Amino acid sequence: MNEKIQEAFNKQLNAETYSAYLYLSMSAYFEATSLRGFANWMRVQAQEELLHAMKFYTFLNERGGRVVLTAIESPPTEWQSPLDAFKNAYAHEQKVTAMINGLVDLAIEERDHAANAFLQWFVTEQVEEESSADAVIQQLKLAGEGGGLFMIDRELAARVFTMPTTPAQG
Ligand SMILES: [Fe+2]
Ligand SMILES: [Fe+2]
Repeated sequence: MNEKIQEAFNKQLNAETYSAYLYLSMSAYFEATSLRGFANWMRVQAQEELLHAMKFYTFLNERGGRVVLTAIESPPTEWQSPLDAFKNAYAHEQKVTAMINGLVDLAIEERDHAANAFLQWFVTEQVEEESSADAVIQQLKLAGEGGGLFMIDRELAARVFTMPTTPAQG
């Protein structure tokens, strides 16, 4: 496997695992503030991120690359409000989108067509990730505090994690 791609994919494996950590930390924050619907939404998001990490893990192995697991940074533990947490999540996804785009650029530079094809799933996924975080931000802005927040919490409680049919997908 191309060494530059291998190194960059290992970095992304770390970043996706950090994303899972970040959202699980947000989930714990929401549990602590008794917003169980918000906590559920973040827990499902964390599970998705673990699948993203596993996609990189599987691809590296399939291509004869070497997976190297590195330390995961501690995520923040507190946010000012639900809106603050979702703004943070949205900004984080924008950062991840930039990272994925950087990987596509590298795959093109290195003429690694398999890596490029693999990454296209993530290009599409990032559109969904940014839009779903932004959707909650917009709802929170409309709702303000109190009753509106409670209604959003009930709505976010409905999100369920669905295991993809093949382990490498998600
Ligand atoms: Fe991700
Ligand atoms: Fe997603």
